[in-house]
Amino acid sequence: MMYKTFEARPIGGALGAEIYGANLKNFDNADQWKELQQALDEFLVIAIRGQELSPADQYAVGKRFGNPCFYPFAKGMDDFPEMTRIVKEAGERENFGNDWHSDTPYLAEPPSITMLYSVETPPKGGDTLYANMQKAYDELSPGLKKMISGVTGVFSAGLKYKPGGNRAAHHKRIVNMPVTNSENADAFESKHPIVRTHPRTGKKALYCSALHTLRLDEMTERESRPIINMLNDHAITPEFTCRVRWEPGQLTIWDNRLTMHNAINDYHGTRREMRRLTVGPEKPV
Ligand SMILES: [Fe+2]
Repeated sequence: MMYKTFEARPIGGALGAEIYGANLKNFDNADQWKELQQALDEFLVIAIRGQELSPADQYAVGKRFGNPCFYPFAKGMDDFPEMTRIVKEAGERENFGNDWHSDTPYLAEPPSITMLYSVETPPKGGDTLYANMQKAYDELSPGLKKMISGVTGVFSAGLKYKPGGNRAAHHKRIVNMPVTNSENADAFESKHPIVRTHPRTGKKALYCSALHTLRLDEMTERESRPIINMLNDHAITPEFTCRVRWEPGQLTIWDNRLTMHNAINDYHGTRREMRRLTVGPEKPV
């Protein structure tokens, strides 16, 4: 699709585009906001370059896409408690958002949209990978689609299967972010269908990750794990993914219902600072 108010340059065959020429401080340009929503629907991930956004600006952009959501595992910013600073200092090893996932699926109503704004980016590395979960679902065999139809997953914040340890262990290694609730993580648990249907388009997407899907409902963890791992591995097939590069002043918006992402931790010795806001709580169906 051609857009009138900005230029969209696709960055992968499956999903993702860089957006040039938009102005996110211009709230009067109704066409631009309509087209940004269309671009998000077309590409699922849009990396809007060349934006200078204060926290208040980012919050205002967020509200155009839905009501802001609280993130339970890091203290928010004083003026914008729903907004979280994501920082990895030069001396740190652990980063935030590593491993493939959709944001906060352990909530009863996970956010439909995530917006990440880059304040400071490393000179190289620190890219984010995305996977198109609609495409991942479409490319499953008819037999497997039948098998997982109607199956519910139990989503946990405990990160029990995270390589290197659970959430408490992960939080202990994060030094410069105000992480909270580490010991209560197992209490954050919700059940959702592992194949969800987009409310507007009716298209189905896989909704399952090795990181957050603890088990399938009415199955043991041992029985579930190979199925969950297989679906996760299938979803991150290179042909279903794209890679977003960052520069300071970039707002990347993604449809959290239809994608997974993974923050690559390949920039030790350099600093990266982002601001994260999620909006549009929605019960997966
Ligand atoms: Fe994330």
